[in-house]
Amino acid sequence: MASIESLEELLQDELKDIYDAEKQITKALPKMAKKASSDELRQAFEEHLRQTEQQIERLEQVFEQLELPARGKKCEGMKGLLEEGQTMMSEADDDATRDAVMIASAQKVEHYEIAAYGTVRTWANLLGKSEVASLLEETLEEEKETDQRLTGIAEAMVNPEAAKDEEAEAAPRGASARGARAAMSRGARHAAADRKRR
Ligand SMILES: [Fe+2]
Repeated sequence: MASIESLEELLQDELKDIYDAEKQITKALPKMAKKASSDELRQAFEEHLRQTEQQIERLEQVFEQLELPARGKKCEGMKGLLEEGQTMMSEADDDATRDAVMIASAQKVEHYEIAAYGTVRTWANLLGKSEVASLLEETLEEEKETDQRLTGIAEAMVNPEAAKDEEAEAAPRGASARGARAAMSRGARHAAADRKRR
């Protein structure tokens, strides 16, 4: 097990790494949004850009709490992921393929971030820095949500007909659930009325 001093150093190092990674992402996302042909995907990238800007501010709060200057250290992992995505995007022959490639690349980025934020959150907790841990946890949850949203877009894209069928099926199911709830509350009202009568 790492000593407390070394864990503290590891935390600082990893925070600098994520800080730089987030900054790289804010540069990549506008380009990806521009190239997206699906409206939903473009919107997801645009919203994630705004979210990433907030995540950078949140990291600045973390640095402040730790009484450290907010400074990044080149994140080679993110650089590699983004470069690979760029190459794959430039090789895509059509819009749908490019969208699929961008989703894949964005999800790799999200998974990197989920691993990184999960790690620093745990280290902050181990060091008893619970406020820092909860700030990092907040971002971790946002990254997980973004990843899920991208999975949803990918699934609807690969088989849009299937996605439509599922929607059509889901609607009556929702309606019948509402119907069942209404029937149950009617039943409860009748039961209450019966009890009163007795
Ligand atoms: Fe992020």
